[in-house]
Amino acid sequence: MTKKIGILVGSLRKDSLNKIVAKQLAELFPADYTVSFIEIGDLPVYNEDLEIDGVESYNRFRKEMKEQDAYIFITPEYNRGMPASLKNAIDVGSRPWGESVWPGKPVLVGSVSPAGISGALANHQIRQSLVFGDSPVMAQPELYIDASKAIGEDGKVVPASVGFLQTIADSFVAFINKNSN
Ligand code: FNR
Repeated sequence: MTKKIGILVGSLRKDSLNKIVAKQLAELFPADYTVSFIEIGDLPVYNEDLEIDGVESYNRFRKEMKEQDAYIFITPEYNRGMPASLKNAIDVGSRPWGESVWPGKPVLVGSVSPAGISGALANHQIRQSLVFGDSPVMAQPELYIDASKAIGEDGKVVPASVGFLQTIADSFVAFINKNSN
């Protein structure tokens, strides 16, 4: 049976390095996987008061997330943490109480940065929230991408890094099969 994976990218900008890596990764799953990108840039900053009248983008996001069998986060690091876009998506997805999109769905978390420690602190901050969300998060292999080496001047992921992303995709498929309800 076809499995569905939803990818959330923490950078909203057009020429994002994270988007380049996420798009490459999305192509490396077997043919019986459908991998799609879930929009998070249109979600208003979470405010419980908005739930009274409902918010179209909150509803759209929650519905799309629930249709997925697994999730992938690809994140930049902003000031040694996850970007607000992803924390907001985690918060929106966790409500209404009792209807969270997170429990039981296998998750892969990857980070991409052209500098420093490849977004490792953002990566682990996401894992921390997902532990609370009761999501099984793949512990190994870890996905930290140094974009200064992994993306060439042509704007494409270099072959060695495509090979590494293939290992990640294969490992995540095995993780999904082991952890799916
Ligand atoms: C950054 N950047 C950054 N990089 C990093 O490795 N650690 C960090 O803490 C930060 N902090 C940070 C804060 C803010 C507000 C911005 C805009 C940027 C640099 C960041 O890694 C770089 O801009 C990436 O290119 C962002 O990812 P995308 O947009 O290319 O996917």
